[in-house]
Amino acid sequence: MKNVAVIGSQWGDEGKGKIVDWLSSQADVVVRFQGGHNAGHTLVIDGVTYKLRLLPSGIVRKNKISIIGNGVVVDPWALLDEIEEIKSKGINVGPDNLIIAESANLILPFHREMDEIREDAAGKAKIGTTRRGIGPAYEDKVGRRSIRVMDLVSEKNLDHRLETVLMHHNAIRKGLGKQIYQKDKIKSDLLKIAPKILKFSKPVWKKIDEYKSQKKKILFEGAQGILLDVDHGTYPFVTSSNTVAGAAATGTGCGPNSINYVLGITKAYTTRVGEGPFPTELKDKIGEELGIRGNEFGTVTSRKRRCGWFDGVLVRQTIKISGIDGIALTKLDVLDELDEIKICIAYELEGSQIDYLPAAVDEQLKVKPVYKIFKGWKSPTKGIQKFEQLPDNAKIYIKALEKFIETKISSISTSPERNDTILIEDPFKL
Ligand code: GDP
Ligand code: IMO
Ligand code: MG
Repeated sequence: MKNVAVIGSQWGDEGKGKIVDWLSSQADVVVRFQGGHNAGHTLVIDGVTYKLRLLPSGIVRKNKISIIGNGVVVDPWALLDEIEEIKSKGINVGPDNLIIAESANLILPFHREMDEIREDAAGKAKIGTTRRGIGPAYEDKVGRRSIRVMDLVSEKNLDHRLETVLMHHNAIRKGLGKQIYQKDKIKSDLLKIAPKILKFSKPVWKKIDEYKSQKKKILFEGAQGILLDVDHGTYPFVTSSNTVAGAAATGTGCGPNSINYVLGITKAYTTRVGEGPFPTELKDKIGEELGIRGNEFGTVTSRKRRCGWFDGVLVRQTIKISGIDGIALTKLDVLDELDEIKICIAYELEGSQIDYLPAAVDEQLKVKPVYKIFKGWKSPTKGIQKFEQLPDNAKIYIKALEKFIETKISSISTSPERNDTILIEDPFKL
């Protein structure tokens, strides 16, 4: 039996949604384990585009179980809206195919407001968050004052929990000159939607244990990317959860030995949304071109993504940090028209060459990429499904990249469509 974790190896938006959807034909269960509706995963199936934020990408397939694990922060209103949106596209969503962990923590309107207040007040120091309340919700979780899905069961309990969390938020709000948040309104709003959420709620750790006993194949779907990990990313310009594969165990309640293969999704170039260091960023015409050809606009916030060359140093680093077994290389077709293509193979920092990104943000901002230059292939790869059919220069680029990151490229994606994928090694069949 193989269970696979799919995670982003860069700054998010690597094409996780497409690859999870493609792999989910073989999986029985698809599980989200961290993040929230800051994620935006795009699936294109027979010309129809689905943009998923909280729902696992397996939801679009028939006869699959989708799970939102305890490690996810859930905005209940955003979730209900997303369920309605996907149902309107003819997809079934009910307790028979969607499970939400009883112990998942809720994102409430005051979290979203706090995210906005802080970002607006930070000026140049802003993180460029998605303003969905992700950070403040995780803070309350770790601060042990959060409201969890199970708290919606009893009005008395909810009242008590709201009292605790609002004591904290209202003290901060007062200090910032903002209005005090009223408990009764949010309580009645939550009680109104409680039955719609609670019907999906189950002990996820127990369901996963059952599925494991039944030898069902489980696909863990990461959100964001390792460079946005709160411990290992470009802190403080990160999200507030662990995005590494290990989070699949804590974010669902199964041991690390439940994950047999870690697939790192990696774009053939690099993008980043929001603020923070980005050594290979291109602020020139080529960067613009990558953005246009790659349609690099945020799925969640429609923000323009920053674009740059493939950073081999960073990807090699994230592979080691997260224990990635194989790479799914995506968006190769976006490079089709370039005369030359570069891979960053080292950094220069104050006169010396280094082979990793240091943890200090001021050093991260200072490093200068050292590039290896490749000839472009200047012919279409879009839609190619066999490695042999790729142009020679594309093969050379892929092989050099594979050698540099010291990890097998197990698939290559050549368009947003599910089937436009070159399979080299099937993670479920190893
Ligand atoms: P995720 O957050 O990692 O799931 O990625 P997003 O969905 O936010 O962004 C990836 C974008 O690239 C989406 O618009 C996908 O439809 C698109 N995409 C995925 N794979 C490919 C590919 O191989 N080629 C092209 N051209 N687009 C792709
Ligand atoms: P997917 O799953 C790209 C970025 C935000 C910001 C930082 C913190 O689609 O790859 P947050 O709202 O999480 O507090 O924002 O993280 N960010 C993402 N960037 N893809 C994502 O998700 C992201 N989720 C958060 O832009 O820089
Ligand atoms: Mg995305």
